[in-house]
Amino acid sequence: MAQSTVPPQAPDILSPEFIADPYPFHRVLRDFHPAHHHEATQSWLISRYADCASAFRSPAFSSRNYDWQLEPIHGRTILQMEGREHATHRALLNPFFRGKGLEAFLPVITRNAAELVTRAVERAAADLADGLVGRGRADLVAEFTTWFPINVMVDMLGLPKSDQERFHRWYHSIMAHLNNLAGDPAITAQADQTREELRDYMMPIIRERRSGDGDDLLSRLCRAEVDGQRMSDEEIKAFVSLLLVAGGETTDKAIASMVRNLLDHPEQMAAVRADRSLADAVIAETLRFSGPVHMIMRQTEDDVRIEGTTIPAGSTCIMMLAAANRDERQFRDPDVFDIHRPDLDVAKAFSGAANHVQFILGRHFCVGSLLAREEMAVALGLVLDRLPNLRYQEGFTPREVGLYTRSVASLLVEFDVPTAA
Ligand code: HEM
Repeated sequence: MAQSTVPPQAPDILSPEFIADPYPFHRVLRDFHPAHHHEATQSWLISRYADCASAFRSPAFSSRNYDWQLEPIHGRTILQMEGREHATHRALLNPFFRGKGLEAFLPVITRNAAELVTRAVERAAADLADGLVGRGRADLVAEFTTWFPINVMVDMLGLPKSDQERFHRWYHSIMAHLNNLAGDPAITAQADQTREELRDYMMPIIRERRSGDGDDLLSRLCRAEVDGQRMSDEEIKAFVSLLLVAGGETTDKAIASMVRNLLDHPEQMAAVRADRSLADAVIAETLRFSGPVHMIMRQTEDDVRIEGTTIPAGSTCIMMLAAANRDERQFRDPDVFDIHRPDLDVAKAFSGAANHVQFILGRHFCVGSLLAREEMAVALGLVLDRLPNLRYQEGFTPREVGLYTRSVASLLVEFDVPTAA
C-alpha cells in the first residue's frame, strides 16, 4: 500500500528557530513550498535557484519595492530605477567599478578608477594590519572587517582619513535601521539623524568638486557624463549613502564568512596557502555557501506563475538568495563548503554570467562585484601572510546572526606573533 506523506509545514522566517539556523528550513521551502505566501510579512518566498535566476532577468519582477524600503533612508538610488533611467545610471557608474568590459567606452576613467580601487584597497588593508599584528589576538570582525570596506570607500571618494570614524558610525546606524524589524523608535530616530548629517556633510563637498579637477571617485562622478547627462547633487549624495550598505556591509560580512570558512576547514586553508591561484575559488565558494545577502525583495508587475502557483501582480516577493545558492538542483552536496567543487563556475563568478545568485543576475547585477572580489582577495592575502597559524581563541565558537544579511557576529582569533629579526 502506498504510504501517504504529509509535507512539512512551511517555516516562519521570523521565528527564532529560523533566525538561529535558516539552512535546514531553506531546504523545506525549496522542496515543498518553492513559492510560499508568508502571512506575517505579506510576501511571497521564492527559494529555488532557477526561479530566482529567471525572476531577476524578467521585467515582470521590478525593484519598485525600494521606493518604500530604502528611499526614505538613502534618497532615490539606482536600485529602484528601471528602464532608461537605470541604464543611464549603470553607464555612469560602471566605468568606476568594472574592468575590461567598459574600457572601450571610457578608457581613461576606467583605468584610473581601477588604479584608485587597487591603491585604496591596499592602503586600507595595510593600515589595519599594522594595528593587528604583534598582538596575537583579535576580534577580526570588530577590528578589521567592519572597517575595511568603509575605509576603502572613504579613501576612494577622496575624503579625509579623519572622517573614517564618522562614516563607520553612519554605516552602523543605517544597518541598524534596515534590520529594525521590531520598529524600535530610537533606531529610527538615529537613522533620521544620520540621513541629515550625511546630507549636511556631503552637499557642500559635492558642490565644490563639481568645478575641481580631482581624480578621486567623487570628483569623477561629479564630472562623468553619458549622453550629455550627469548625476545630480541629490543622486550623488544618495549613491554615497547607498555605498555604505551596498558596498560596506556586504563585503564586511563576506570577508568575515570567508575567514570563518577557512578556519573551519583547515585543509582548504592549507590548499590556498600553498596555491594562491585558488583565491578566486575561495571567494566564489564563500559567496555561494555563506553569502552575506540572504534575501532581497522584488515586486511583481504582472501575475506570474512559479512552480504551479500564481503570484498576483503588485505582490512583494522575497528572493531567498542563500536558499537558492544551496539548491541541490543546482549544486551537488550544497551544504558542504568545497573550494574544489566542479559545479561552481569560478571564472564567471564575478560576472553577470555567474551560476550563483549572490550578486543576483540580470539588469541589477551588482555594480561592485569586482571591487568586492578585490577587497576579499586582499583580505585573504592578509590573513595568509600576516596572521600566521591563525586559529580560533580557545572556547570560541562562531555564531551567525542576521535575517536579510547574515554573517558571524565576531571572530575571536589568535595567531603567531612574528619575532623581531
Ligand atoms: C560581497 C560583496 C557584495 C555582495 C554580496 C553584493 C550583492 C549585491 C546584490 C545582491 C545586489 C542586487 C540588489 C538588488 O537588485 O536588489 C547588488 C547591487 C548593487 N551593488 Fe553589490 N554586493 C557586494 C559588494 C558591492 C560593492 C563593493 C559595491 C560598491 C560599489 C556594490 C555596489 C552595488 C550597487 C551600486 C548595486 C545596485 C546595482 C543596480 O541596481 O543596478 N556592491 N549587490
